[in-house]
Amino acid sequence: MVVLNGQKLVREVFVHQGENVADRPSIPIAADLTGDKGLIMSNGYAWKQQRRFALHTLRNFGLGKRSLEPSILQECRYLNEAFANEQGKSFNPQFIINNAVSNIICVLVFGDRFEYTDDDFQSLLKNINEVILLEGEVWAQLYNMFPWIMRRVPGPHRKFFSIWNGVIDFVKKKVEDHRVEFDPSNSRDYIDCFLGEMAKWKDDEASGFNVENLCYCTLDLFIAGTETTSTTLYWGLLYMIKYPEIQRKVQEEIDRVVGSSRQPSVADRENMPYIDAVIHETQRCGNILPLNVPRQTTKDTQVDDFIIPKGTMVMANLTSVLFDETEWETPHTFNPQHFLDAEGKFRKREAFLPFSIGKRVCLGEQLARMELFLFFTSLLQRFSFSPPQGVEPSLEFRSGGTLSPYPYQLCAVPR
Ligand code: HEM
Repeated sequence: MVVLNGQKLVREVFVHQGENVADRPSIPIAADLTGDKGLIMSNGYAWKQQRRFALHTLRNFGLGKRSLEPSILQECRYLNEAFANEQGKSFNPQFIINNAVSNIICVLVFGDRFEYTDDDFQSLLKNINEVILLEGEVWAQLYNMFPWIMRRVPGPHRKFFSIWNGVIDFVKKKVEDHRVEFDPSNSRDYIDCFLGEMAKWKDDEASGFNVENLCYCTLDLFIAGTETTSTTLYWGLLYMIKYPEIQRKVQEEIDRVVGSSRQPSVADRENMPYIDAVIHETQRCGNILPLNVPRQTTKDTQVDDFIIPKGTMVMANLTSVLFDETEWETPHTFNPQHFLDAEGKFRKREAFLPFSIGKRVCLGEQLARMELFLFFTSLLQRFSFSPPQGVEPSLEFRSGGTLSPYPYQLCAVPR
């Protein structure tokens, strides 16, 4: 395995030699679950076709465009209502945020949102959260090192597989329901579009347009679209209760640009450099995918004086980029000034790569950025956040499939 460190090297290899590192390695624990199908772990021709189709379809449903905004704003209203119901008392917002964020990708892929009071969906979200944490445990590493033994012995990894299979069954059931209701003249969501597309590709098996791959692609979009953005928002609120003076500046900007009589919109972002900087700094310090998602060389590749042979696993150490001491003025401090120039205007930074870069750059970046801005701004427009009395918020993190804060409580007091 080769680990790339620092902004310059990651950019040099992932951008200038992009094709050479476009593959994913086969990781036993993932391969045993999905057979390396779907969007995230697939390679070659099938991955190219599926990535192109997913991007095209999600764009048609508004990804990266203003047309998606009303449904996110609707969800922001539900989320605000749920926070208001807590009546200023302390609570852990993790799974409400999780549910709200998940609903955006759920509408795109399943055509449906889920109430925050839906116990089945809440327990599904809790299960997903649990398996993502389990991925960071030692036996998960043992599984990847000694799969031929671990497949045969009992242990906590059995729980990992049983929970994942429950999540996969949930997605399969959604796909089955769509097949029963399928009407080619009315494509409601990603699953419908995929079912429609299958007929066109029936003579090209390698493209991956079949029902099994539909389940795994849908699963990938659902998981990637739920966990990452909600963990980032969970970090964002933690930083707000940790740094009340930054929270105050955020609210001053909201009051000045948006006011209190209307909801914020994406068009406001260019007039809100401070909030934009706070969200960027949340992503930088939150560092939720510290080692990116693994890549693999597609051919022999020269990096500096080294030849990396074809088929070698390559990790981009995003921690080394997001905390690169040659790039950031105060790398280890939460400091929105990193993204502001001397006049307070928003300033882009080359070492801001939480979505990675190159051929496999995050497929949902546009969607995530829109969600982060609208959810975060809407919440801070309506509430002031503080820790429960006498509690000092901790920035300690838990490391699993993503890096997330330890569960914490906050008070959301209406403004
Ligand atoms: C704050 C939110 C998010 C962050 C930080 C994030 C980050 C990442 C990163 C680092 C990768 C790996 C890129 C690489 O291999 O170089 C990735 C891949 C991916 N992301 Fe995201 N992501 C976020 C939100 C989303 C959302 C909302 C979606 C839903 C559409 C999504 C879908 C995907 C998919 C499908 C891939 C695999 C792409 C491929 O292999 O071609 N992500 N993401």
